Amino acid sequence: MGNDEIDGEHQAFLTLVERVSRLIEHGTRSEIMDASTAMVALLNVHFVTEERIFGETPYPDAAAHRVEHRVLLHMAIHAKKMIDRVEDVGFIRLSLRYLAQSLVEHLLETDMGYRCYLRKPEI
Ligand SMILES: [Fe+2]
Ligand SMILES: [Fe+2]
Repeated sequence: MGNDEIDGEHQAFLTLVERVSRLIEHGTRSEIMDASTAMVALLNVHFVTEERIFGETPYPDAAAHRVEHRVLLHMAIHAKKMIDRVEDVGFIRLSLRYLAQSLVEHLLETDMGYRCYLRKPEI
């Protein structure tokens, strides 16, 4: 993206999604729970960072982007709660897989929308 803070969080996030995806296939319920807890915590931090940074630019889709963050966070919190309550591991795995896909899609598509507003004017 060209912003060290955002790039660092995206990298950490992708590493975590990769970990969750691996655990979905081969991990225990408690490992999946720990990784998804870390994912929700990182999402909270990252969305605040991103909204602060693009909020300081003339990015025109800021409001819609914030709404998408709320939806993704809601999905992530719901998935995490489900791990606590639902016994059907197959259902949990499928839900986490869809969540990971939605998050990566957001990062690769929606986040790209404000990228050009981060560039400093050339001197
Ligand atoms: Fe992002
Ligand atoms: Fe975003």
